[in-house]
Amino acid sequence: MKSVIVLGAQWGDEGKGKIVDIYSEFADTIVRPAGGNNAGHTLVVKGEKFVFHLIPSGILHPGKKCVIANGVVIDPKVLLMEIDRLKERGYLKDDAQLKIGLLANIILPYHVLLDKAREEKLGSRKIGTTARGIGPCYEDKIARVGIRACDLLRPESFAEKLRANLEAKNFLLKNYFGGEEVPFQATLDEYLAYGERLKTYLLDTSLFINEEIAQGAKVLFEGAQGAMLDIDHGTYPFVTSSNTTAGGACTGSGVAPTKIGGVIGVSKAYATRVGGGPFPTELFDEEGQKIRDRGNEYGSTTGRPRRCGWFDAPVVRYANRLNGLAGIALTKLDVLSGLPIVKMCVAYEIEGVRREQVPLSLTEFEAAKPVYEQLEGWKEDISSAREFGDLPKAARKFVQMIEEVTAVEVSLVSVGPDRNQTIIRRNPFRA
Ligand code: GDP
Ligand code: IMO
Ligand code: MG
Repeated sequence: MKSVIVLGAQWGDEGKGKIVDIYSEFADTIVRPAGGNNAGHTLVVKGEKFVFHLIPSGILHPGKKCVIANGVVIDPKVLLMEIDRLKERGYLKDDAQLKIGLLANIILPYHVLLDKAREEKLGSRKIGTTARGIGPCYEDKIARVGIRACDLLRPESFAEKLRANLEAKNFLLKNYFGGEEVPFQATLDEYLAYGERLKTYLLDTSLFINEEIAQGAKVLFEGAQGAMLDIDHGTYPFVTSSNTTAGGACTGSGVAPTKIGGVIGVSKAYATRVGGGPFPTELFDEEGQKIRDRGNEYGSTTGRPRRCGWFDAPVVRYANRLNGLAGIALTKLDVLSGLPIVKMCVAYEIEGVRREQVPLSLTEFEAAKPVYEQLEGWKEDISSAREFGDLPKAARKFVQMIEEVTAVEVSLVSVGPDRNQTIIRRNPFRA
């Protein structure tokens, strides 16, 4: 395959950053198609940790081109900080390594304030957003009043759009939410300065990626969030505000579906979720806490403890339906080592009826009771396994069971956070 999409098959934080870093070695260009700095993608290279919110996880590979495409919502302050930190650590020496879409929508201070104010108003019904202004920014984009990266380069038209937006947003912030207003001049000056700094990276990214593809480049698309957080297909309203599925990767980057060779879904060997919404296999007991502690399940973006539970096959089957997975990259198998028994949800029981599919109704999903298969655990530390055959029999059986219940091949098994703690069974770029 020449072009591969890597995306989350659960509720986000599956380990996409690590997987993209690994596949980047075989790709020429790495593209972030959607989402914003709600994402936190962690990679560990020779013990050194990196967390990326906007910059593609391929950036540590010298010479690989990284693209933040038009479908991403960009907080310029966060992006510039990420660029500065990378440079401080000796990466991104050549600015030409990074390309940013001229048409990407920009997150402004009122988006962040509105995100926070809305959540506060919702009280116990809050979504549990990352408070980064993602939802309000995507709202403006769909309402056709968004401010885009290209606007930051045109002071007059930016000023006009900003003034119009502030009139409405400040009215809302002050009169509806009873909060602070956003000043016009200071915001204009601050964001024009960001535009100046970002100018060197801005271009027509759809044209760039398509030209790369035409010249035979291998392109890797790095999804953000996960299938169950998709605005159309996820557990609405407990979702993010973008399409996190393979279609969204094409739309966000301006690349035709016919140019995509295949899709790899990243899934943990168990499940986690941050924020509100249904999660049928969630564990509230000691076992859940054990997984949280061993898996270090605390958000890369907000530091919130992640809700933990067993692997949910209907969810991954659903992710396969939405994305047509060529393989699963199964992460964090090492975290389950030492548990006497591991469980896997193979179906749900809803109002006494066995259901194989994720229900569309939130009420039904909230009422879903997992139907579990129990498997024998394994005691061995598996973090140094590098071949599938190095894994204990019970761990291999667990992986094979995932292949059976999802009908998708497990093409990679990750046994630790580090780049080298990986078993590649089939490389999508060599398939
Ligand atoms: P992403 O948002 O999908 O990129 O995932 P996050 O980076 O938010 O969360 C995944 C976390 O798991 C990160 O801290 C990774 O370093 C870590 N991780 C990834 N793969 C493995 C693995 O196989 N084993 C362990 N123990 N940690 C892993
Ligand atoms: P990565 O790319 C996990 C969740 C939030 C919240 C909901 C809406 O690291 O996997 P938002 O701020 O997007 O409006 O929040 O979506 N969420 C994520 N959960 N990983 C992510 O990204 C997420 N991005 C958003 O916790 O429940
Ligand atoms: Mg994350």
